Amino acid sequence: MQFTAVILAAGKGVRMKSKMPKVLHRLAGLEMILHVVRAVRQVGVQKIVVIVGHGRQEVRDLLTGEDILFALQEEQLGTGHALMQARPLISDDENLLVLAGDTPLLRGQTMSRFVYYFENSGADAAVLSTAMEEPFGYGRIIRGPDTMLTKIVEEKDALPEEKKSKEINSGIYCFKGQGVFDALSRLDTANAQGEYYLTDVFPLFIRENKKVEVYRHQDSEEIQGINNRVQLYQAGKALHRRKNLELMEAGVTMIDPDTTFIDLEVEIGMDTIIHPQTIIQGRTCIGQDCEIGPQVQIHASQIGDGVKIDSSIIKEASIADCCQIGPYSYLRPGTILREHVKIGDFVEIKKSLVGEGSKIPHLSYIGDALLGKRVNVGAGTITCNYDGRNKYQTVLEDDVFIGSNTNLIAPITIGKNARTGAGSTLNKDVPPHALAVERAKPRVVEKKLGRKIKEGEE
Ligand code: UD1
Ligand code: CA
Repeated sequence: MQFTAVILAAGKGVRMKSKMPKVLHRLAGLEMILHVVRAVRQVGVQKIVVIVGHGRQEVRDLLTGEDILFALQEEQLGTGHALMQARPLISDDENLLVLAGDTPLLRGQTMSRFVYYFENSGADAAVLSTAMEEPFGYGRIIRGPDTMLTKIVEEKDALPEEKKSKEINSGIYCFKGQGVFDALSRLDTANAQGEYYLTDVFPLFIRENKKVEVYRHQDSEEIQGINNRVQLYQAGKALHRRKNLELMEAGVTMIDPDTTFIDLEVEIGMDTIIHPQTIIQGRTCIGQDCEIGPQVQIHASQIGDGVKIDSSIIKEASIADCCQIGPYSYLRPGTILREHVKIGDFVEIKKSLVGEGSKIPHLSYIGDALLGKRVNVGAGTITCNYDGRNKYQTVLEDDVFIGSNTNLIAPITIGKNARTGAGSTLNKDVPPHALAVERAKPRVVEKKLGRKIKEGEE
């Protein structure tokens, strides 16, 4: 039999107190629903159906290109009603794996084991449960004297006796064929929330002598549902912890994983050391033998081997092997550094290519520039790339030496091996091997110290 996954994601998530639908909130760099979709993919199901409702367009937009079918739940009348919306998309020969879009910690491996158990048990329906120390808010698994499942009750409907059960419903189920839709069509809304509860299909199955199983999972952390911002924070923290452990197991040194936040999509090579208070986000790839941090923030950047970065911010940049960056540099989108480049303190670079072995060691702004190899940019040099309307390019050819505190008014090209004198403001191209100096003649006024200079007097 084929397996199809149905992800319920139509709810607003009222408890999030947000303008955004719940499943679009991000944790560890990915939207909640994407965590769930990624995990489901690992199970190897043939088809994924997502039930959308609140923020339907945004959810669809996020998932375009993911090979997913959508069913619309116009009004959110409960989880049972939500699953019912998938009916037209499911044929008789499909088994269902049903889960919620708000359990981002769930592992693909756990679902695979559950599906395997279900297929071998010959059951008509199965629910995944776990023991929770703090079961508040979850539906409770209620078992009869024979320890078999009798029903699942929601917190709001539970009797004091039932609330004592610490075995909770994960919201993850398997169903054989179309049977669940027949049961769903017989649900009512006679409960505290006036909703069609998906969980109410279990007593119906039991009454019809269908085989119902509970699959108990050990790791309750994975089952954490996100209903509010505190749970969002807790789950985000758990995902970051998981990622850090994974990286350490793969040969990355972390001085303090508690203050290191690395998104799930980040890749880091062996023997790289990550210092405290470092945040690495988006699709960032870092090579081997690097030293990153302390206090570094990197977003969606490619970083080679043997790179050192200290106390800096790097966004959408590409940095080749053996570069040294910081402290206190700011590399903005479109920055490309070739091998062995040194970027020092208080340097901002935007949309510029810096050739192999070049150095910009102190206090500079380099924007819209092309630097050749072995260029040395003196302290305080600025590319004046913007005239208030347009941006222009600065080109510094190989082996150029820019004196300290130079203003390069773009468009401008400084030819190979040319030099500029400190303090110059240049607005004309400089040919190769030339020296360009623009500097007012210094005047030294003598013998006037110690008395006040009157106006008009020198
Ligand atoms: C649900 C279960 C509860 C379980 C818990 C696990 C029911 C009645 N309760 O409770 O037993 O312990 O999950 O986390 O099923 N949704 C829709 N349409 C709706 C309502 C909900 O698509 O009309 C979606 C939501 O977007 C969400 C999921 O279903 O992704 C679960 O809904 P939620 O309201 O969070 O259910 P819980 O109260 O957490
Ligand atoms: Ca929930």
